[in-house]
Amino acid sequence: MRVRIQLAAAIATVVIMTFIPAPVRAEAPGDPAAVKNEDGKYFDKDGAPTFKIGADGTVDWYTYSGYRRYHSECHVCHGPDGEGSSYAPGLKESAKTISYAEFLEVVVNGRQKVGAAQQQVMPAFGTNPNVMCYLDDIYVYVRARGVEALGRVRPAKREPKPAAYDKAESSCLGQ
Ligand code: HEC
Repeated sequence: MRVRIQLAAAIATVVIMTFIPAPVRAEAPGDPAAVKNEDGKYFDKDGAPTFKIGADGTVDWYTYSGYRRYHSECHVCHGPDGEGSSYAPGLKESAKTISYAEFLEVVVNGRQKVGAAQQQVMPAFGTNPNVMCYLDDIYVYVRARGVEALGRVRPAKREPKPAAYDKAESSCLGQ
């Protein structure tokens, strides 16, 4: 009798596990401190792109570019300065809770809350060069906003556009 109950419970568990989709792993990114600079692009200790803001407020090129791209492609839904809106979450918060890989995945493929009372759709940008060619820029910008390394302002001073960036941008845009 006891064995029967245990068996039934085990089967039920397997059945339940099969029908519950695996949760998307939300992994917080690590320390955003820049430890490496490659042609004007900064990386943290885990190899993810990050910002670099000098004592006088000079931002790296990516942060500046990301500010501009964010405000042309994302802010309509996600609110100015990554603050969020009633429609979409604040990306400054997302930058603290989801990994770089997950950020890229959502922007490329989009996302829709299944069964949500209110349908909120994150469009897929995978074929939009104005987003795809500037993914790291946008990520770096919202990451800086997440830890308030950058305020709700247009960066006043910036590092010059790196030559390597110029080249990569042209080839990404197919120019
Ligand atoms: C048409 C409105 C809209 C636009 C434009 C938009 N988003 Fe979204 N985005 C959403 C909505 C709504 C969600 C929440 C979707 C969900 O979780 O179901 C979302 C979610 C996300 C998430 C996941 C956030 C989290 O914490 O899990 C990321 C990352 C994201 N968007 C990045 C971007 C970026 C970068 C841009 C600009 C290139 C952008 N979005 C433009 C509506 C939009």
